[in-house]
Parts: sequence; structure tokens; C-alpha cells
Amino acid sequence: MTPFAYRGGELCVEEVPLATLAERFGTPLYVYSANRIRDRIRAFKRAFADLPVRFCYAVKANPHLAVLRIVAQEGVGADTVSGGEIERALAAGIAAERIVFAGVAKTDEEIRLGIEAGILQFNVESPGELERIAALAAALGRVAPVALRVNPDIAAPTHGKIATGRRGDKFGIPLGEVPALFARARALSTVDLVGLHFHIGSQITALAPLVSAWERARDLLLDLRRSGLPVQRLDLGGGFGVRYRDEEPPMPEALAREVRRLFDGLEVELIFEPGRAFVADAGVLLARVIERKESAGLRFLIVDAGMHTLLRPALYDAFHAIVPVKEPAAADERLVFDVVGPICESSDVLGRNRLLPPLDAGALVAILTVGAYGATMATDYNSRPRPAELLVDGSRVAVIRKRREPRELFADELVPDWLSGPGGAGGDVP
Ligand code: LLP
Repeated sequence: MTPFAYRGGELCVEEVPLATLAERFGTPLYVYSANRIRDRIRAFKRAFADLPVRFCYAVKANPHLAVLRIVAQEGVGADTVSGGEIERALAAGIAAERIVFAGVAKTDEEIRLGIEAGILQFNVESPGELERIAALAAALGRVAPVALRVNPDIAAPTHGKIATGRRGDKFGIPLGEVPALFARARALSTVDLVGLHFHIGSQITALAPLVSAWERARDLLLDLRRSGLPVQRLDLGGGFGVRYRDEEPPMPEALAREVRRLFDGLEVELIFEPGRAFVADAGVLLARVIERKESAGLRFLIVDAGMHTLLRPALYDAFHAIVPVKEPAAADERLVFDVVGPICESSDVLGRNRLLPPLDAGALVAILTVGAYGATMATDYNSRPRPAELLVDGSRVAVIRKRREPRELFADELVPDWLSGPGGAGGDVP
């Protein structure tokens, strides 16, 4: 089922026409389909139903409390990378014993929060962090469950900025150093070493690199077990790609087949941490055309969304399909446009060379597959408030984040007293 489809000439989300939402709530506007999120989670759960697998949703992909509520209701846990994400997950009703805490820079305060909450495990990224977790647990009179994050030296075929498993990336512990650290962790009485963690990158659309990482995980597990070091749990990370243009990412069934082949009979619990694969195609960004212009032989559609609303194209040259909200007739003229935002930077391009009808000012476009790493990476740059967010669930519509007024953006800014005197040229400087 695709939640976004033309009906009666209008692009709809579930049962609701997007144009009516833009009319009521303004643009730019993020709109999510609750049922699409549920469908994606259920597809993964179904494919892995016979396996000892638990899913911990990578909160960073879309941390909105309403999204986390859906995740919690589907019985999925959370993969978090900060104290803030742990607090969000707990606030949304995800039980502490379903929360994993990863990330390369956990502060003492965040570690304490995780220990006190009683989370499922800390994914440890360095020897120093292991010692700190042990010391903090000792001070609290607790035992902290930990897994060691391994850097398997695998270059995932994805954008360089979102590959994490290469030697030289800041993440994890080099493969060769894992056995010694594993033995060290076993010797610490205030940590409970439960296993290993791997995550080689994001938006991986081929099966082979994932399988390579999983093979490395299995080999390491077997090596450690042979030397008397038990591994009960493997957290195999996230990174499952989605279709933005014409990619053909592996289906959950294909992933499950490989997992079955590699881990059957090994008596190991598995965790996966998908973020994007659960939420990306459940979101669209609605934008309105402000101006159409031609310049130096190029045609621009200037819209009210931009790199401040959706950073992925500017940061990773990411492709997001852009479609008119009013369905064009097959015979309608189409021209090549660069779709750009209002921000004063040349990197503020949402899509180059897009074939679109010559839309007039006021027309609406939808930017697709923005449910992951969309709103969460948005900013108020250029004092343009971040978009409002809506959740559609069948015929129900809820505002899940209000748009702020430009004045609200500076309401919490403080001007020091000494600047409050009369201004103007020269001021009171002698
Ligand atoms: N687990 C770990 C340890 C991670 O670092 C990440 C993502 C995930 C799971 C979830 O990965 P996913 O299943 O969503 O691919 N902002 C970038 C993506 C950054 C991903 C960072 N880590 C983007 O917009 O493409």
C-alpha cells in the first residue's frame, strides 16, 4: 500500500487530500502517515517472526513523540544516541528494558541516566568509555549491561558522510582490539558484558555489505566463544536503505533469509536498529511555489521549503522526488526546473533538473520520502520557522507540532543590560 497517491486528481495521504491540509495549516508542512509507519514495522516483524530478533527503532530518524508512540504500540524498542533521546523514548512509553544507548560521546550525566533508568544495554565505543560506565555503575551500586561496538572495517556503498564502519571512522573499536577489551570487560564486576554491536552505515541498498558485516559478527562471536568468552547478543545495527529514486533495497524477507542462514543454531539474541526503513516513506513535505524564474538559461521553481526545512539534498546531494499536488494531465507541458528554496545560499537546492509542469506561484508541490532525517534536521536558519508537522491516521488529522511565529524565534534571546542604553552611531564610547 502506498499512503500517498493521486485520487480524483489530487495527491492524498491516506484518505486526506494534501491540498486541504496546506490550506488549513500553511506551508512548508511535514505530513506523516501513521498507517504507513505501522505497515513498515509490521513487514519487518513478520519477516523475522521465527527468529530471536528484537527491533529497536533508531530514534534519530524521526524522534517525534507521536512517532515514538506508534513505535511503542507496535512493541518495538528504541536505539538512542543521547540522554535527550532516552528521555523522549521513555516519555513516549517505550520501556527502559527495550532501550539501547549508542553513540560515540556519552557524557557521565547521560550514562547515569541510562543506568538509573535500567536500559537494555550501552553500546560502548572506546576503552575509556567502558571504564567510565563501570565506575559510574559502581558509584550507583548497579551493574550496567554493555556491548562493545566493533569497527569491522567495511566500506558500505553509501554516501561517504553516512558510512560508519571504515577503519578511520570515529566509530567503534577496531576488530583486532576487541578480544582484549572483551576480556577486560568480563573482569569488571559492575558491567555485564552481553555482546557486540555493529553498524556500518545508513541508506545501504545492497545486501552484500550487510551480509559481510554480519559474517564478521558471526566469526568474531565464534572466535570469542572458542576462547571462553561468551557472547549472548549481537546488535547488528540499522542502515537498511529505502527507495528515493530507483533503488531496489532488499525486502525484509531477503534480510531475514540471510540472518537465518548465518545465525541459525548459534543461540544468540539479535537486535536490529532500523530508523529510515520504518519511517522514511511515511512522510512528505508540502511546499508552495513562491516564484518561477528564468535565469542564464535555467528555469527555477522557488518554493517556501529549502535546506532549512530539508537538509538532506544540500548535505548529502540526496535525491527526493518532487511532484505536483494537483495531478497533471498526461498531455500537459512539462519543463526542466531546478527546485530551490528561499535561503541565501547556493546550496539551497531541493532538486535539480526536475521535469515538472510550469507551476505558477501558489501551486503546491510534495517532496517525497522525507519521514526520516527530515524535520529532525530542520533549523530556523534565516529566521524562517521550522515547518509544522501533521499526523494523518485514516481520516483523522492531528497537528503534532505547531509552526512557530517568527517573533517566537527570538523570544528566548537575552540582550545584556549594558547594551540597553541609547544606541546609534558612536553610542557613549568616548
Ligand atoms: N544505529 C546506529 C548506531 C546509527 O548510527 C544509525 C544511524 C542507525 C542505527 C539508523 O540508521 P538507519 O536505519 O536510519 O539508516 N542523516 C543521515 C543519516 C544518518 C544516520 C546516522 N546513524 C541522512 O539523512 O541520510
